[in-house]
Amino acid sequence: MIDMKTKIIHISKDNPDLEIIKQAARLIQTGQLVAFPTETVYGLGANAFNSKAVQSIFSVKQRPSSDPLIVHIQDKNDISSVAQNIPEIAFHLADQFWPGPLTLILEKHPHIPLSVTAEGLTVAVRLPAHPIAQLLIRQSSCPIAAPSANRFSRPSPTLAKHVYEDLGGKIPMIIDAGATDIGLESTVLDLNQKPPKILRPGGVLFEELACILPDIQVCEQYLDSQNKTQPSPGQLFKHYAPKARLLLFSGNQTDDVLLSMKNTITLLLKDKKTVGLLVTDDDVLFFKNMEVVHMKMGTSDNLEMIGKNLFACMREIDARDVDYILMRMPSNNGLGMAIQDRLIRAAYKIIQ
Ligand code: TXA
Ligand code: MG
Repeated sequence: MIDMKTKIIHISKDNPDLEIIKQAARLIQTGQLVAFPTETVYGLGANAFNSKAVQSIFSVKQRPSSDPLIVHIQDKNDISSVAQNIPEIAFHLADQFWPGPLTLILEKHPHIPLSVTAEGLTVAVRLPAHPIAQLLIRQSSCPIAAPSANRFSRPSPTLAKHVYEDLGGKIPMIIDAGATDIGLESTVLDLNQKPPKILRPGGVLFEELACILPDIQVCEQYLDSQNKTQPSPGQLFKHYAPKARLLLFSGNQTDDVLLSMKNTITLLLKDKKTVGLLVTDDDVLFFKNMEVVHMKMGTSDNLEMIGKNLFACMREIDARDVDYILMRMPSNNGLGMAIQDRLIRAAYKIIQ
C-alpha cells in the first residue's frame, strides 16, 4: 500500500468546528477512511454501505477479514436501516443505553455488505455517545463501519497520537478531540441467540444488563478468571499485546500477590532483565527503591480510572523497551470484568 500524508486535525469536543466535520464527511462519502473519537476508544471509519471502503479498513489495520465490524449510527431510528427483524428488547436496550458503549448483535439488513459482517448474517450496531462521532455520522449521511483504530493486535487507541503511531501514512485524516472517556471498548451483546450473551464485556456493565435481561449469559472466557485453567506461556490468545512480556498476578490476598510480584521482580533484575510495573496508587509504595519503571493508574478502587488509563499506560511503558511488565489483576466486579478481559488477552502469563 502506498503511503499518504495523514492529517491530524484538532477539534473541540464541546464546541466543534463544523467545517472540519464536513471535510471528514467528504472523505467518508468518497470511500476513504477517517479516524475519529468515540467515548470508548478511537475508531477507524468508512461508509458502511461501501464494500470497497470497508475492505480497505481490513488492509490498513492488517486485520483478518473474518473479524466483523461494528456499524455506528447517530439516531436510534436508523437501526432499521442496518438490521431487520429487530426484537422488541433491542429497542428497549437502545432506550436505556444509547447513546453509549453498548453494541447489539442483530440480524443484518440486506443493504449492509458482507464485508462488514465477515460474510455472516448478523450485524453489530452501536450509537456512540461522543458528539464528534455523532456529528461525523450525521454529516456523512450514512452509517459508519468502524473497528478500533489500532493496528491488529495492538492496544486500542485512546489518544489521536496512538492512532498515528499505528496508522500514520495509511489514512488521510485523524480527528483529534483529546483522550477518550472510557478507554475500553463497548460491551458486545448478542441478541441473536437465546438467552442473550455478552460476547465482550465493556463500558455497559453486566450488572446493568442483568437488571433488564435476568437470563443473560456471559461468554465463558470472561467468567472466573482467577480459577480458569491456565494455557501455557505465550499460548494465550494474543490481542492488545505489548512487545514486553506481560505477567499478570492474581489472587484473593493482596499482600501475598504483592509479595509474589516483589519476588519475581528481584529474580528478573538478578537475571539482568528490565522491568516495568503498571501499578495502582495504593500499591506503589510497596515497590519503592526497586529498580523498575512504573506507571501509576489510579487507586485500586477506582476501576473507571484504571480502565481509562490502561491502554495508554500499556503503550507508554512498552515504549520504554522493558523486557517484562508486571501488573496485579484488579477485582472483577463492575468495569473490572472488562479490564480483566483486556489484561488476560494481553498477558504472556498469569501467575496465581
Ligand atoms: O467501543 C467500541 O466498540 C469501538 C468503537 C470504535 O466503537 N469499536 C471496536 O471495534 O472495538 P472492534 O472491531 O475493535 O471490535 C468489535 C468487536 C469484535 O470483537 C468483533 O468480533 C465483534 O465486535 N463483532 C462485530 N460484529 C459482530 C457480529 N456480527 N457477531 C459477533 N461479534 C461481532
Ligand atoms: Mg479492536
